[in-house]
Amino acid sequence: MDTVLVGLFVALALYAWSRSSKRSALPVPPGPKPVPLLGNIFDLTAKELWLRVTGWSKQYGDIVYIHLLGQGLVFCNTYEVAQDLLEKKGSIYSDKPHLIMAGELCGCQNMVAFTRYGDFARRQRKLMNTAFGISAVKRYRPLLANESVLLLKRILADPQDYMGYIRRYAGGLTLQSVYGYRVETNDDPLLELGTECVDILSNKIASGGGIWPVDTFPFLQHLPTWFPGAGFKRKAAVWRAKMEEFVDKPYEMVLERMRSGATVPCFVTTLLEEARDEKGGAVDARRDFDIRWTANSMYSASMDTTITVVQLFLLAMILHPEVLRKAQAELDAVVGPARLPTFADRPALPYLDAVMSEVLRWGVPVPLGLPHRLMEDDVYRGTHLRAGTLVFANIWNMLRNEAIWAQPDVFRPERFLEPVDEATAKRRDPRPYVFGFGRRRCPGLHLIEESLWIVMATLLATTDILAEKDESGKPVMPHVDFTNSVFRTPAPFKCDIRPRSEQALQLVRLAE
Ligand code: HEM
Repeated sequence: MDTVLVGLFVALALYAWSRSSKRSALPVPPGPKPVPLLGNIFDLTAKELWLRVTGWSKQYGDIVYIHLLGQGLVFCNTYEVAQDLLEKKGSIYSDKPHLIMAGELCGCQNMVAFTRYGDFARRQRKLMNTAFGISAVKRYRPLLANESVLLLKRILADPQDYMGYIRRYAGGLTLQSVYGYRVETNDDPLLELGTECVDILSNKIASGGGIWPVDTFPFLQHLPTWFPGAGFKRKAAVWRAKMEEFVDKPYEMVLERMRSGATVPCFVTTLLEEARDEKGGAVDARRDFDIRWTANSMYSASMDTTITVVQLFLLAMILHPEVLRKAQAELDAVVGPARLPTFADRPALPYLDAVMSEVLRWGVPVPLGLPHRLMEDDVYRGTHLRAGTLVFANIWNMLRNEAIWAQPDVFRPERFLEPVDEATAKRRDPRPYVFGFGRRRCPGLHLIEESLWIVMATLLATTDILAEKDESGKPVMPHVDFTNSVFRTPAPFKCDIRPRSEQALQLVRLAE
């Protein structure tokens, strides 16, 4: 049976390869040499793929092409290439791949990051903009301030489990703003469900670019689950059940609360009430579907990204105590020791802003962005890009550009305070890079701008964030590993977060 399968597989690989090699007279962009049929399968790695792609960029240039069983992948290694393709030609570079494994078998096709470019994607974008657009996020300031104080209180009461509290902050914030649901413990069931599903999504379903053999050979989806080689179908069935629970459970909870008259104001309630007013009582199926999936996408997309960026901030502080001291000195001078910082203090805290920019630049939370699918054949710099090619922005490489940021591997917030002209300052700001490009650019960027700032300000004003010490009192710098395939999330590391002073501790205790 296995021999038959292998035979079938090779025949289909040959077919896919021959299809992919029907090229125009122009070559594809350069890249590492593929092996016959399988392509560059052996060149990929699930761990820190961005480093390997950056290595290719040194060898092959600004745009690199590889293929997996005929499925083309293109990496835009510079800002200019990403702009030219993903931004300027956004009308043909904003689709998402039709993934049989992730989309149909695992049930993720309606999550924003997977939706095909078209009406549904545009409706989702509109809803997200209503919830988290630049003016809408100001509404969340009281919630953000409150949650950041709770985060601080919890960490100080139980510093060993600081990661659990960061996770609770990240998930709790979106559960509260999107579903009006308050997380009470680190092992809250909805929080646990979210964590498990986001892990399945990024480390299992989307691992290695998210392309499974069934995506290249769709007929494999019809194999019976007991068939040798159909293990992916058994996995998909388990993951799909989890994803359905993830989408439906918090949403149904909101519906139930509305039915029982115990409505809590939140993104879902607001949109459902709006829809009811328009339709005189009933919410039509399409609107229900849009709100249900958009709410879930915001929750899932904000979890790992927020955790990652807060961890990167803590890591930067441990590795650079001189930066921590300087930011604290600025906070002491502007805010003083008798109160906590507020959003109103932000304009007077330029060094803190520089620390935040450097965390985003040096940390690169999503180093290869998310793939965009090219919808029509295209020609770029004398090369041919076939419709269906998946295009990634190598954000990691862009933010390590020595011509813009000297010694790019060094964490140095001062670089953002150097006097430069407006155009240079704009080019140095990491935000136009870290959140991706074009019509699929991150819709959560305004929320994270507020959320990360208040967490950093609150923690720095009241705590010291230090490396653990060994028995002789010497700081032990953490050895940090990055194992997540999509996000640059540091593997958990030990750190010592303690109140800066007795007065700071009192301030935290008394804070509402
Ligand atoms: C520092 C934190 C964050 C970073 C660095 C980040 C980065 C990114 C990047 C690079 C993309 C891919 C864009 C592209 O396809 O070109 C993306 C997509 C997305 N992000 Fe974020 N993100 C962050 C936080 C958030 C938050 C807090 C939310 C939700 C509230 C969110 C929601 C989304 C969604 C829904 C998408 C998919 C958009 C689409 O495909 O149309 N992100 N993000």
